[in-house]
Amino acid sequence: MKYLHPELETMARPELEEYQLDRLKNILKKVSETPFYSNKFKEANIDISQINTIADIRKLPFTTKEDLRNNYPYGMAAVPMEEVVRIHSSSGTTGNPTVVLHSQQDLDWWAEQVARCLYMVGLRKTDVFQNSSGYGMFTGGLGFQYGAEKLGMVTVPAAAGNSKRQVKFIVDFGTTAIHAIPSYATRLAEVMAEEGYGIGHKPTKLKTLVIGAEPHSEGQRKRIEEVLGVKAYNSYGLSEMCGPGVAFECTEQNGLHIWEDSYIVEIVDPVTLEPVKDGEIGELVLTTLKRDAMPIIRYRTRDLTSFMPGECPCGRTHRRIARLQGRSDDMIILKGVNIFPIQIEKILMQFKELGTNYLITLQTVNNNDEMIVEVELNELYSEDYNEIKSLASEIRRQLKDELLVTPTVKFVNKGGLPQSEGKAVRVKDLRSFK
Ligand code: COA
Ligand code: ZN
Repeated sequence: MKYLHPELETMARPELEEYQLDRLKNILKKVSETPFYSNKFKEANIDISQINTIADIRKLPFTTKEDLRNNYPYGMAAVPMEEVVRIHSSSGTTGNPTVVLHSQQDLDWWAEQVARCLYMVGLRKTDVFQNSSGYGMFTGGLGFQYGAEKLGMVTVPAAAGNSKRQVKFIVDFGTTAIHAIPSYATRLAEVMAEEGYGIGHKPTKLKTLVIGAEPHSEGQRKRIEEVLGVKAYNSYGLSEMCGPGVAFECTEQNGLHIWEDSYIVEIVDPVTLEPVKDGEIGELVLTTLKRDAMPIIRYRTRDLTSFMPGECPCGRTHRRIARLQGRSDDMIILKGVNIFPIQIEKILMQFKELGTNYLITLQTVNNNDEMIVEVELNELYSEDYNEIKSLASEIRRQLKDELLVTPTVKFVNKGGLPQSEGKAVRVKDLRSFK
């Protein structure tokens, strides 16, 4: 069988739109009973009976990350809390993190959707699927885990890091498919070679890679395919919608099918918020059609992409989006972790020993991405080497707690950082994958 959910994946356009409208109406009814959306709709002077076509969705107000933050933790629940069975949350404690609530129904559908994606790239129950995502609160962990199990594959929840052990699992368990962020895939190839496996060494059974959570170019995909001797497929998701499984490439490797039975998909100009034409880059806006515990209306993902025109030869009718082009806000993605520069600033500003100027540099060293935080040290602060060293390690510890990645902290003298005119440039991104 070519499709896991043929009746949904190949639905003719008019039928698909009818399906969407039906679900949209139900979701609107449901959310308008929550305090958050009933207020939001009232403020925007919207009565949901005005929404009678898919295009009418443009009359509805957007939902933003700020809304999720302001309603931390349970303010956007659309079911009683006894129906909620799992929480996923973003990193950070300095501002309110964002929280996404799932009912059992949500988790079941999410797994189906991930299974659909994995099936689409040719994976079957005879495959062995290894996941190098962080588990815990990262949706890339449990999201792929349940999806891969749903397909009946042997799953290897290796989790992030410890690359030698990842290679041992690949070899011993006969892993055929891996999920990894693109920058880690090249690191993994390097460690495999060091251990004597992969291209030009002893062969493994690896044939498929699922790469996502970090924007990457076609050239970077090709490099990953070459160094690992695999086919690599682009995966897109975000925790606000569920996690991985929102959009995925098919074997054509030409754009990602975005699952329109689950989402109404818009791409808007991030400034005017008006829809862009096919092929033009804008911000992806998603409305959930199947979410039970926490439906979200017109969510501004801040991810930049475009609609690809035309039909896909694979026969799926769901529209394709182009590979992700970056963000319309200042969020950084490092090692698959989402970071806002303000999180770093807030930590630094708590230290009276530090000045106000700082610079975040992201760079790739030996196939490892790293973050260097350079910050001014106040003139009055000690010249004692040990005191300075322990200050640096305390800052590093606090940043790691906040961000979940470990930066290097360097001090510079006052005036030692480049002064920029106007708005200060706080982030310098020199990575090979970005
Ligand atoms: N996935 C898997 N492994 C990763 C990784 C990633 N995204 N980013 C880095 N690593 C590896 C490193 O290569 C290193 O491997 P080694 O043990 O063989 O040396 C190891 O993880 C530790 O990396 P390091 O850079 O020293 O640690 P850190 O403290 O800065 O970051 C991580 C810690 C990697 C655990 C943290 O960034 C993480 O959990 N990332 C995964 C996020 C994720 O899964 N996102 C997916 C969303 S779909
Ligand atoms: Zn296709």
